[in-house]
Amino acid sequence: MPTITIDGQQVNVAPGTTVIQAAEKLGVYIPRYCYHPGLSVAGSCRMCLVEVENMPKLQISCYTQAQDGMKIGTRSEKAIQGRQAMLEFLLINHPLDCPVCDQSGECDLQNFYMEHGRYQSRFMEDKIKRKKAYAIGSHVVLDQERCILCTRCTRFTEEISRTHELGVFSRGNRSVIDLFPGKTLDNPYSGNVIDICPVGALTERQFRFKCRVWYLRQEESICTGCSRGCNIAIHFNPTRRYKAGGRRVQRLKPRFNPEVNSWWMCDYGRFGFEFIDRNRIERPQLGSDHGPQPADWEAALDAAAAAIREAIDEHGPQSVGVIASPQMSNEELFAAYELFHNRLGLTRLALRNPWEEAGPEDELLLKADRNPNAMGGESIGWTEAADALLREAGSGRVQVLFIFRHEFSNAEAIESLNSAAFVIYQGTNWNQTAKTADVVLAGAVHAEKDGTFANFEGRIQRFRQALLPLEDSRADLDILNDLADRLGQPLAFHDAESVFHAWRRMTYSELDEYGMLLTEKSEVGA
Ligand code: SF4
Ligand code: SF4
Ligand code: FES
Repeated sequence: MPTITIDGQQVNVAPGTTVIQAAEKLGVYIPRYCYHPGLSVAGSCRMCLVEVENMPKLQISCYTQAQDGMKIGTRSEKAIQGRQAMLEFLLINHPLDCPVCDQSGECDLQNFYMEHGRYQSRFMEDKIKRKKAYAIGSHVVLDQERCILCTRCTRFTEEISRTHELGVFSRGNRSVIDLFPGKTLDNPYSGNVIDICPVGALTERQFRFKCRVWYLRQEESICTGCSRGCNIAIHFNPTRRYKAGGRRVQRLKPRFNPEVNSWWMCDYGRFGFEFIDRNRIERPQLGSDHGPQPADWEAALDAAAAAIREAIDEHGPQSVGVIASPQMSNEELFAAYELFHNRLGLTRLALRNPWEEAGPEDELLLKADRNPNAMGGESIGWTEAADALLREAGSGRVQVLFIFRHEFSNAEAIESLNSAAFVIYQGTNWNQTAKTADVVLAGAVHAEKDGTFANFEGRIQRFRQALLPLEDSRADLDILNDLADRLGQPLAFHDAESVFHAWRRMTYSELDEYGMLLTEKSEVGA
């Protein structure tokens, strides 16, 4: 194992480790543009120059492999001068339109300029003009003038999405990134080029000019778009008050998890977050001849509890059916199972896939199951018997149907729903079921609460609350707790973590950073 010294600190690394990777092991960050750990090494930007003892020229640390006994200076005068010169070179034709650039505030050109800055430009000539701000796909805008030709984006389309839309055209100082003729950047992973572009050359159409990045806060979460469970960060603007048609969540970004999604996420997940702020059920409702009418929580929960109690008292526990959703968290599914099955003795319980069609699947990330938590629901005890349950409801043997989130589009299911004497709907967004239910309990979306999902391979991963529940909606767990109290079966789950502990015998802090398989046991609590 080679041992090298970086800025006076020694580190042992595996053979083949590059100097930039060895420095990261020591917590030493070497500036870079073209290097990205998920892509091949291009060695083109020369921003990662370091001084190596006994070598006459500066070396690029993203390509130079660590050799035993090497002594590296990343902060030596010579290394800093080299990087300054490269930066000056990269800025020669750069427009410096930071005040109107969406990358401003998270731009590596700005950041490294502040570190290595030359505050007096020596460039007197006219800058070369290139094509500015034009859409190259449904989600991405390219500004050729801001591009520093690091080729991260072209390598992404060659090596990761393998869709080959982007290339470098022309020579020398006329070189530009552009689409190949006849292509548009519309592959299912196109948004990743925005993340990896270190400057403001590739920006997000949906996010452009929506919010300055320094107003954004972020919280760790899990994508709910499919059963892969990509690790993401929710970027939201805490200063923006919700108003109908507005958006609190500004964008989603992938978070690194080597076991699940590496550095990437797909466009369906990335851009599919409108449901967080659109068409939401903002408060509980009671059904009437004129459709659902806003009610307070006391009245809605009383009505739901009374209907369940009456049905059980008069017709037995088999007269109440519950249809849960794999869009719910483990904690919600566990609490619902505890209340409905273990405490109230209901047997007509089902976990129903809300999607009629499977989603797209590929070898990179996308999974056909469009639910984040089917595995979790199954392991808790929920089974997929929704069709049988709906048939029972259709034949009049079910008096109360408690439905989490589902919308029914086929005629038979709608008929069954109409046959049930009383329908309680608990969910986040308006749909036909909510519009015709007798009681509507307004739930919070995943961005508004804590919990875990288990992905397609059973990896339990945590998501955290980023936003307050919208208006008068509430976390499903709080709703279930209050309902349980009214049914004389208090659950005493004071938060999501207490449910998680009851289920897994462990705390959230014992969950590994990259998640934990359902088959693994907690070393502490078990
Ligand atoms: Fe400024 Fe960076 Fe945008 Fe260039 S890419 S205009 S340096 S924020
Ligand atoms: Fe690099 Fe961005 Fe230019 Fe692509 S568009 S080469 S990622 S600077
Ligand atoms: Fe090393 Fe670009 S990061 S040459």
